[in-house]
Amino acid sequence: MFKIFTPACLALILITNSYAAGDPAAGKDKTAVCVACHGNEGVSITPIWPNLAGQHAEYVRKQLHDFKDEKRKNPQMSPMATPLTDADIEDLSAYYASLNAAAGEAAPTLMVENKTISLAEGEALYRAGNPKTGLAACSACHGPNGTGNAAAKYPALSGQHVEYTVATLKAFKAEERANDDKNVMRTIAGKMTNQEIEAVANYIQGLH
Ligand code: HEC
Ligand code: HEC
Repeated sequence: MFKIFTPACLALILITNSYAAGDPAAGKDKTAVCVACHGNEGVSITPIWPNLAGQHAEYVRKQLHDFKDEKRKNPQMSPMATPLTDADIEDLSAYYASLNAAAGEAAPTLMVENKTISLAEGEALYRAGNPKTGLAACSACHGPNGTGNAAAKYPALSGQHVEYTVATLKAFKAEERANDDKNVMRTIAGKMTNQEIEAVANYIQGLH
C-alpha cells in the first residue's frame, strides 16, 4: 500500500530531472512573433537577423536561456526571450532543429579595407586558422562542413548570413557578447583582424 517507488514513479522523477524533449509541432505554434525577424521557415529575410533553421536544439536552448538570464543581451532579441517558459524553450528549440538549414552562397572575392580577399583565403582560415597568430581552426569545433556538434553545444554555422556572422564575431571580440563558456569565442575572435572576420564569414555563408 505504501510502495511509493514503483518503476513508473522513478521514470517520472528521472524525466523531470532532465530536460523533457521538446515538441517541434508545439514549437511551430509558438513562433507567431519570431517569424517577423527569423522568417517563416527559420531563414531570416534581413541578414543581420540570424537564420535558425537546422540549428542544434542544445545550442538554441542555451541561447534562449542566456537571453532570458541576461547573459547575452540584444535590444531586439532580449524582450522576445523574457516571457518564454522552459517548456516554450524546449519546443522552440526542437522546432528550429527540425528545419533544413539555409543554403547560401559565398562571393568569389571580396574587398575589405582596400584589400581584395579570395574565397580560398576564407577557406584556409576556416580549416587551418592562422598559425602566425595562434588562431585556432574553426573546423576543429564547428566541423568540416559547418554542422557544429550538438552535444558540445558548438553551433552549426553553415549558410549563416555574412552580416550576422561578422557582427557576432565583432561582438565577441569587443566582449559585448560574453555568454561563451570559458571565453572560447572571445579568445578566438580577439585574435582576428577585420579582414579575417569578413573572409571567414563569406566562406561560412557558402559552406554546407
Ligand atoms: C525583432 C526581431 C526579432 C524577433 C521578433 C525575434 N528575434 Fe531572435 N534574434 C534577433 C536578433 C537581432 C538576434 C541576434 C542577437 C545578437 O546579435 O546577439 C536574434 C538571435 C536569436 C537566437 C540566437 C541565434 C544564434 O545563432 O545565436 C535565437 C535562438 C533566437 N533569436 C530565437 C528567437 C525566437 C524563438 C523568437 C520568438 C519567440 C525570436 N528569436 C524573435 C531578432 C529577433
Ligand atoms: C574550441 C572550439 C571552437 C573553435 C576552435 C571555434 N569556435 Fe566558434 N563557437 C564555439 C562555441 C562553444 C560557440 C558557442 C558560444 C555560446 O555558447 O554562445 C561558438 C560560437 C560561434 C559563433 C556564433 C554562432 C551564432 O549562431 O551566433 C560563430 C560565428 C563562430 N563560433 C565562429 C567561429 C569561427 C569563424 C572560428 C574560427 C576562426 C571558430 N568559431 C572557432 C566553439 C569554437
